[in-house]
Amino acid sequence: QKVELELDEIEKGGYEHFMLKEIFEQPNSIADSMRGRLDAKNSKITLGGIREYADALTEANRIIIIACGTSWHSGLVAEYLFEEFCRIPVEVEYASEFRYRNPVINKGDVVIAISQSGETADTLAAIELAKSRGAIILGVVNVVGSSISRASHEGAYLHTGPEIGVASTKAFTGQLSVLIMIILSVAVRKKTITDARLKELLTDLACIPDKIRKVLASNDKIEYIASLFKDARNFLYLGRGYNFPVALEGALKLKEISYIHAEGYPAAEMKHGPIALIDEEMPVVVIATRDSSYDKIVSNIQEVKARKGIVIAVVTEGDVLIPKMADYVIEVPKCDEALMPLVSVVPLQLLSYHIAIMRGCNVDQPRNLAKSVTVE
Ligand code: G6P
Repeated sequence: QKVELELDEIEKGGYEHFMLKEIFEQPNSIADSMRGRLDAKNSKITLGGIREYADALTEANRIIIIACGTSWHSGLVAEYLFEEFCRIPVEVEYASEFRYRNPVINKGDVVIAISQSGETADTLAAIELAKSRGAIILGVVNVVGSSISRASHEGAYLHTGPEIGVASTKAFTGQLSVLIMIILSVAVRKKTITDARLKELLTDLACIPDKIRKVLASNDKIEYIASLFKDARNFLYLGRGYNFPVALEGALKLKEISYIHAEGYPAAEMKHGPIALIDEEMPVVVIATRDSSYDKIVSNIQEVKARKGIVIAVVTEGDVLIPKMADYVIEVPKCDEALMPLVSVVPLQLLSYHIAIMRGCNVDQPRNLAKSVTVE
């Protein structure tokens, strides 16, 4: 037993929990996901795992993304990216719903299945259904040789290393990194992106590990903010555009490990319901980085403040406007808006981690949750 305990300590690499280790590993795990694939200098992406079906993906009439949990959130980001850069219509489906519907799958539809474990029963069943109707399946999976990777025609592994903490962190950013590379290589083949824009994005992508390092350096500040809100009963997370799925992911992280009720919402949708919940006790995390919806999100912050809500804003460094309005701000480095989720999710991971620890929760193995859900 002693040997096992020591092994556990060694595996945690000096960190108190796997989740914290995995959050801090992200600069390296993202670099690993890009190694041998991204050549920013020459504006090139090489994905060895998608060759035979690269044309099918490029010519797809429609892409259906199937996933569960955190993987479903990275699918939502991929939807926005596919639309923006490839002009391909995308549907993002919960595997558990998709498999029990009578989904319309046409010739030329390509399914992308996203899964960290590669063993999620609903995702696997959804793949089998889509396959039986003639769809091509591409897997975006972390665990090599897993059931989903075997059930897929082709795909790309994350290469982010094993994720032990039940709450997914580095797998999410690994998925985003791989999906972005897939999407940009389709955009190149389809000629739906200019050389200049591609160069800009790939250069920024190569800098993501360093940008995450900068966010991790704010850990103490985030821990302090966590100490102020550890007893909150509810949390609201708001974001727009690429940061909307990040709001969902931030809320999921918090509820999974701290058992605080949290909801993620597209910021403008707040007025259709959640605004009724806002009072002086409601912490509202707003992901308000500098992007095309910046002015809109500033108005959303004003709406929250007008109802005395407490605003914790994630902003781009150097922002002078939002710090005047928000109660607390966490800065993240400047980044292309299409890549921002890779960076803006990190402070939210840390915030939930610290809140859960302060509440005495078991962050690596939260109650009622499993790392890989092999039953439906
Ligand atoms: C479980 C895990 C989540 C994960 C989801 C999907 O609920 O606790 O962290 O996002 O399953 O898992 P997958 O392995 O398919 O990504």
